[in-house]
Amino acid sequence: MKIVILNSSPRRKGNTSKLCDAFCKGVVTTDKNPDITTVFLNELNFKGCQSCFACKLRGSKQYGRCSLNDELTPILTAVNEADCIVFASPIYLMDVNSSAKAFLERLCFSLGSYEVGYRSLATKKALVVTIYTMNTNKKFAPVKAMNNVDMFLGHIFSPPQRLCSYDTYQFSDYSKYVVDVFNEAEKAKQRENQFPKDLHKAYTLGADTATAYLKNRINK
Ligand SMILES: Cc1cc2nc3c(=O)[nH]c(=O)nc-3n(C[C@H](O)[C@H](O)[C@H](O)COP(=O)(O)O)c2cc1C
Repeated sequence: MKIVILNSSPRRKGNTSKLCDAFCKGVVTTDKNPDITTVFLNELNFKGCQSCFACKLRGSKQYGRCSLNDELTPILTAVNEADCIVFASPIYLMDVNSSAKAFLERLCFSLGSYEVGYRSLATKKALVVTIYTMNTNKKFAPVKAMNNVDMFLGHIFSPPQRLCSYDTYQFSDYSKYVVDVFNEAEKAKQRENQFPKDLHKAYTLGADTATAYLKNRINK
């Protein structure tokens, strides 16, 4: 099973990364030899969509493919060939963060056609998992923004399985920073009690996704 993980967090050891790692551990319980590529979007040199419309050009070889040539180019190809895509982003300003957004512009605009019915131009109906981590609790989560991303990825590939981790621990040592609005004790409690449960959910999601893929392949 070919899996591409698009992790937009700038923190390689942050909450989002830990959940992605747990997902991978879950995958290998079912698929002993998965082909997993993890992409840290924040470390790549790339731009969002430049509105050149080459991907929409009638009769063009580039139809349905992004023409920009930068460090995202091979990643877009890998995503289009994947059996499973994991899109993982921390929430910044009530939305996915900027590298996640730039990636989505490039992917979804080129693969989402303007043909009648808005046909998807993706090569495969890859399984999709979305992972969102945020400081806020469930009540104030940016549901519209997450629904929006899931809607686009769902249209182009297949409806995502979503995992949200709320109330995440932001600072390694809260006492060093001015964060009067958050109660550190509450945060620590959350990290101790809830975050391991979120990791377990990610692990289970990994196992379930690999199972769904293998079942689907057998039935084909
Ligand atoms: C620039 C910035 C903006 C943020 N905006 C929000 C926000 O609007 N809502 C929220 O719940 N958390 C917000 N956060 C907190 C992060 O989403 C949260 O700590 C997340 O789990 C970080 O993921 P990471 O550990 O993988 O980097 C923000 C963090 C940063 C650095």
